[in-house]
Amino acid sequence: MYKGIVLAGGSGTRLYPATRAVSKQLLVVYDKPMIYYPIATLMLAGITEILVITTPQDQEAYRALLGDGSQWGLKFSYIAQPRPEGLAQAFTLGREFLDGAPAALTLGDNLFFGHGFTGLLREATSRQDLATVFLYQVSDPQRYGVAEFDAQGDICRVVEKPPSPPSRWAVTGLYFFGPEVTEVAAGVEKSARGELEITEVINHYIRAKRIRGIKMGRGYAWLDTGTPEALLQASQFVGTIESRQGVKIACLEEIAYNLELVDRDELRRMLRDKQDIPYYKYVLDLIEAGGPVPLV
Ligand code: TTP
Repeated sequence: MYKGIVLAGGSGTRLYPATRAVSKQLLVVYDKPMIYYPIATLMLAGITEILVITTPQDQEAYRALLGDGSQWGLKFSYIAQPRPEGLAQAFTLGREFLDGAPAALTLGDNLFFGHGFTGLLREATSRQDLATVFLYQVSDPQRYGVAEFDAQGDICRVVEKPPSPPSRWAVTGLYFFGPEVTEVAAGVEKSARGELEITEVINHYIRAKRIRGIKMGRGYAWLDTGTPEALLQASQFVGTIESRQGVKIACLEEIAYNLELVDRDELRRMLRDKQDIPYYKYVLDLIEAGGPVPLV
C-alpha cells in the first residue's frame, strides 16, 4: 500500500517578500491553501497515510491547518527538513515513515487538474515493481527536469535544467517509487548546485529499466505556483473553472466524502457551525444533495 509525502519546505525566495514570514505552501490559491492541491492528488491516488515535510519554523502552522488528518479520513505525520537540500531528501527524511512501503512524492506547490486524472494515478499505483513519473509538455523546458526519449519512445534520461533541452517534456512534481527508493536516495550525492536531485533517483530507475513516463496530454493542467505570475495564473485557473462549473477543485472534504473516507453524519457534525462560510456551505450543500459521486 503506497504512502504519500508532500514536500512543503523550501525557501520560496522567488516569492519574497510574501514568503519571508509565511511558508509558500500555506499561501492561498484562489479559495484554499496551496497544500490542499497536492494532498488532493495523493487522496485521488488512493493514499491515506501522508507525511508532510516542512521547514522547522513552519511545522506548527501546518499542524494548525491540517491536524492529524482524521477530519478527512487521513493520517498525517510531520517531519522537519532542516535545510532545503533537494527533493531526493524527502525519501531519506521519510525512511521511518515509509517503513518499507512504496512511496508517492508530490511537491507542495504543484497543482494537477484534468479529466481522467484519477485513472492515471490508479495506473501509477497498479505496478509497485515500476516507478512512474508524469511528463508534461511545456514552452520553457530549460526551467525543469526534461525527459529524453529513445527510438522506441521510452524515457532514456532526465536532464536537470538543460540549456539545450532534448525535448519539451518536463518531469512534473509527482513521482511514484517502490520501497527501495529510500536506499536509492541515500546513495545520491549533492549536485554542482548543492542539492540532492530527484533527477538522480529517476536516472537510477531508468538505468535499471524500472520506470515509465506517463505523458499528460493537452487536456491536463499542470501548474506550479512558485513565482508571482504562476501563483496568479493558478488562482485564476481554479477560479475560472470553479465559478463556471459550480464545483470545487481540491476540496478535501468533498474528495473524502466521495471516496467514503468520511460519511455524511461526520461531515454534518464537523461543519455544523460553519454554514455561513462559503467553502463549507459548498460541502454541506453537496452532502445534502445525495450520495457520493464517482470521481473521474
Ligand atoms: P522549488 O520551487 O524548487 O524551491 P523553493 O520552494 O524553495 O522556492 P525558490 O526557488 O523560490 O526559493 O521547490 C519545489 C517544491 O519543493 C516547493 O514546494 C518547496 C519544496 N522543496 C522542499 O520542501 N525542500 C527542498 O529541499 C526543495 C529544494 C524544495
